[in-house]
Amino acid sequence: MDGWILKSVIVNIFIKKNMRKKIVAGNWKMNNDLSETETFLAELKEQVFPEDVELIVAPGFPNLYHSFQSVREHPVVIAAQNMHQAEKGAYTGEVSAGMLTSVGITTVILGHSERRAYFGETNELLAEKVNTARKNDMTVIFCVGEELADRKENTHFKLVENQLSESLFHLEEADWKNIVIAYEPVWAIGTGETATPEQAQEMHRFIREKIAARYSTELASGVSVLYGGSVNPGNAGELFAKEDVDGGLVGGAALKVDSFMAIANSF
Ligand code: PGA
Repeated sequence: MDGWILKSVIVNIFIKKNMRKKIVAGNWKMNNDLSETETFLAELKEQVFPEDVELIVAPGFPNLYHSFQSVREHPVVIAAQNMHQAEKGAYTGEVSAGMLTSVGITTVILGHSERRAYFGETNELLAEKVNTARKNDMTVIFCVGEELADRKENTHFKLVENQLSESLFHLEEADWKNIVIAYEPVWAIGTGETATPEQAQEMHRFIREKIAARYSTELASGVSVLYGGSVNPGNAGELFAKEDVDGGLVGGAALKVDSFMAIANSF
């Protein structure tokens, strides 16, 4: 490749990566009661926020309204970790999109592997949840990822492709402005085991290629694809440096402000 072509390829990659939103999202799971939530948010609000990184925090349902009110003057998005697919009705114990938006929550994590594994959420059900979220004009952080057995059997690409196509590829192009993908290999979640930056990049590129094949390269290059699974301040930098890695969905290391912010400052 001559120098000029190489330079334009590099500039092109740089422009594409910089077109996409960089995001660091904290998924608190079933952690942090009201006082722990208040302590975290009070400390968070004192931080200097990186200008080009969107920060998202996803507390438990009872603390969403309070959290939203607490950070509304700050560049922090409060997200829900789940919601029901029906608009309303006799679904004891469930939370609807309308309930979330009525308290200011317009972002929801869907398809987390813990929801899939412990609550039986299938690709088909998740397609319904995604539709309901979009009907209510919500942004979806949609999680995909394989279990260790899939990777060992070399079926991980196919599995992730199915998760994308069965839950998201019926969407209209316009919906993709409000879709963020989180690739979370299940074997790396809460285990201290992280995918190598190369493994993450390989799958992120694959995800982007599948979106490009279904829609267009332009659309695909605008979709933020986050990595999740034991992200911490020590490994975030090399993961985020990869071309197709646009940030992280963080569990354990998002429970403390210092590690959360250290990750947000790792780009
Ligand atoms: P972890 O969780 O960072 O604790 O591995 C990530 C996630 O499940 O989103």
